Amino acid sequence: MSSKKQFRRKQFQFFRRNLAIDLGTNHTIIWSPGKGNLLSEPSVLAIDTRDNSVYSSGREAYNMLGRAPSNIEVIKPLQDGVIASFNYTVKMLEAFLDKAISRSPVIKYRLIFTVPYSSTQVERQAVITAGKRIGIKNIYLIEEPLAAAMGTGLPVNEARGNFLINLGGGVTEIAVISLGGIVKAKSLRHGGNSLNTSIQRYIYKKYLLEIGESTAAAAKETAGYAVNPPEKQDLEIKGLNRKTMRPDRITVPLSDITEAMYPVLSNYCTMAKKIFEQTPPQLTTDIIKEGIFITGGGSLLHNIDVLFSQNLELPVIKVEEPFTNAARGAGMALQYMRFHLLDLYRA
Ligand SMILES: Nc1ncnc2c1ncn2[C@@H]1O[C@H](COP(=O)(O)OP(=O)(O)O)[C@@H](O)[C@H]1O
Ligand SMILES: [Mg+2]
Repeated sequence: MSSKKQFRRKQFQFFRRNLAIDLGTNHTIIWSPGKGNLLSEPSVLAIDTRDNSVYSSGREAYNMLGRAPSNIEVIKPLQDGVIASFNYTVKMLEAFLDKAISRSPVIKYRLIFTVPYSSTQVERQAVITAGKRIGIKNIYLIEEPLAAAMGTGLPVNEARGNFLINLGGGVTEIAVISLGGIVKAKSLRHGGNSLNTSIQRYIYKKYLLEIGESTAAAAKETAGYAVNPPEKQDLEIKGLNRKTMRPDRITVPLSDITEAMYPVLSNYCTMAKKIFEQTPPQLTTDIIKEGIFITGGGSLLHNIDVLFSQNLELPVIKVEEPFTNAARGAGMALQYMRFHLLDLYRA
């Protein structure tokens, strides 16, 4: 190496920063191990179709869903936990990163993404490529249940059984974790969003009222009970009456929402039971003692803990900060460079 080159190398010092991105079907979180939550926005992008430019992103774009003028297309680039539209995912990531950090050529970022446990190699490679497209060279991946368990503060590195259920928008993951790895897991490619669809179908069948997905989501989030809905409490729902073809409003008992969600929720219980039954006995003793931890937006559903508890006969704990713990855990894995937790390292 020439002395001139050596000199330049000494003069030019890079600053290194770690960043974690939880790229979820419904929400994207950008987390800095040092600074905490930098961004938390719906995974939505609004595109101006005249020149294919980004009109808005995140919450602003989400609010345009169903209300946008004809030249604006509102897009959800992720489906069922994985990239559905690669180019729009890159555009969305660029927009989010611009909001979250100020890029500088002297700062080198090391980036970790969470991916669903069930995602394929091709789907994971798409995430890595998307990260490279936004100009980051050092990219790591971590499976979401592991990241969420770490972010929750569970002792994942110990020889102890940890049982976690992540109820996301597009994926539901049930995992048993011990010694820094996933021992047993099941990942279903549907989540809270299919509860919305179930509510839409139920209301249509019973009352011939057509309701939008956001109406169904709002009904679930405000008045949905996984089990034991309060008696004598109703909910007003607005939609399109298919008989008269006019806008209409009806009042339904809360038990309707519970009944609509039941088939999907009981499927989750069956899956969780199966995973628990397949868990090695040394680990089940820990789980019986510590209980099941539930996270993700779906864990906010009223009485979802009661439902799991009744079905599995185990204590159930709703974690704090269910939206951000996966991103926090991913940041922790990267910060302490726990290589054995990371997947597919690509320099
Ligand atoms: N209060 C609530 N009750 C029930 N479900 C909720 C509530 N708040 C959010 N959700 C649901 O959580 C899901 C989004 O969770 P999130 O963890 O952000 O998903 P993802 O990681 O897939 O983006 C959505 O289906 C949403 O309807
Ligand atoms: Mg998630």
